[in-house]
Amino acid sequence: KTNRTFTMIKPDAVANGHIGAILDHITKAGFKIIALKYTLLTTDKAGEFYEVHKERPFYPNLVKFMSSGPIVAAILEKDNAVADFRTLIGATDPSKAEKGTIRNLFAKSIDANAVHGSDSDENAEIEGNFFFSAFEKF
Ligand code: CMP
Repeated sequence: KTNRTFTMIKPDAVANGHIGAILDHITKAGFKIIALKYTLLTTDKAGEFYEVHKERPFYPNLVKFMSSGPIVAAILEKDNAVADFRTLIGATDPSKAEKGTIRNLFAKSIDANAVHGSDSDENAEIEGNFFFSAFEKF
């Protein structure tokens, strides 16, 4: 079934000049870009986006990192989008990410792990709506 997922190219990958290469991987894997934005999260906005992780020990660091530089946010569409995108990006910890995955190619650590991918259809919808209005989805 065709559905959508949400991704961010994180500050590390943007700073390292990987926006183009990562978008190329994504589109070559068959994902259609529905919405796309280059932006900077404030600490408040990053804290709100990652609210589900508020009680986790890595939360303060995560919020600090995700607001440390510009990111690229995007909504993507494909058959089986959520699961297929998570396969494309690889494990959260890049040292455990399979060869050829985006995190294997571009990520340095579990914090600076190059990309975000939604973990469910429901979260994809919530996360996409955090960044994009109905008028920005095509
Ligand atoms: P992301 O998929 O964007 O969602 C939460 C982020 O927290 C995750 O990617 C990692 O970059 C970061 N993180 C840091 N430590 C951990 C951890 N132990 N488990 C899960 N995520 C972590």
